[in-house]
Amino acid sequence: MEHEPLLMIPGPVPIPQRVRAAMTRQAINHRGPEFGAAYADTVRTLKTLFGTENELYIISGSGSAGMEAGVANFARDKRIVSLVNGKFGDRFAKIGARYGTVTALESGWGTPLDLAALERELEAGAEVVTMVHNETSAGIRNPAPEVGKLARKHDALFIMDGVTSIGGDDVRMDEWGVDVAVVGSQKCLAAPAGLAAIAVGERAWDRISEKRPFYLDLAAYRKSGTKAPMETPYTPAVPLFLALCEACKIIEEEGVDARVARHRRMTEAVRAAAKAGVSNSSRPSTNTTPTRTP
Ligand SMILES: Cc1ncc(COP(=O)(O)O)c(C=O)c1O
Repeated sequence: MEHEPLLMIPGPVPIPQRVRAAMTRQAINHRGPEFGAAYADTVRTLKTLFGTENELYIISGSGSAGMEAGVANFARDKRIVSLVNGKFGDRFAKIGARYGTVTALESGWGTPLDLAALERELEAGAEVVTMVHNETSAGIRNPAPEVGKLARKHDALFIMDGVTSIGGDDVRMDEWGVDVAVVGSQKCLAAPAGLAAIAVGERAWDRISEKRPFYLDLAAYRKSGTKAPMETPYTPAVPLFLALCEACKIIEEEGVDARVARHRRMTEAVRAAAKAGVSNSSRPSTNTTPTRTP
């Protein structure tokens, strides 16, 4: 029997049996009604998780492909301000530097972002803000509503990495003024790795770059995605789409509010356990023999 590893990393996370089974089906036509219906159903659930009525498309590529799609389509040759308090904020700044001019506002890993400095950059003419909502590397949730408000006030676009928040935490893209948001399939959605979903609002579509990449051209995703049946511009990773569709059915069955509440309970439990472990291990030992954990 296969030894089943218990993954305890932010993602990939263990995949439910039903989701795994969805990947093992015979191939289907990716330009046919069955695929189109699965894509449309998945998009419907994801929009709820993103808290958006914006258009949303799915890319065959990991979360970083979604981040790059956002920057390459909407921040090319622009003045970008990247908020950095961990590894993925830094990644966003690096992606931005390939396409535009980046000012990285760095705070220490896991420390609060400097919103006063952000406002100064926006006043000085920054046109795009990038931010990671849940900075996985440092375990900190960044203030998306506040950043969204500042970006709107200064007419800048706000591109948000929700790779490890969407599907596990409360996200309200439209209410918060996020123009572009991204999630990865292998994190809170509990689907296999390899897909990114990206939602795009009207303000971003209005500013889409003329000079877009080929594979990650979101105008092409929009054109294929608004057809019936719904399609992707190039052959997608069909088994992964079918698995994500099944994962979304599980999310619907659990209910979004219940899912967010469960993640919050788990967060508190893990933090309490970690703190208890730390305070236990820092207690003076009565045993004078040095001990070693195996
Ligand atoms: C917050 C965040 N953003 C982006 C990524 C990159 O995603 P991927 O590894 O799917 O490209 C990760 C991966 O852990 C992440 O946690």
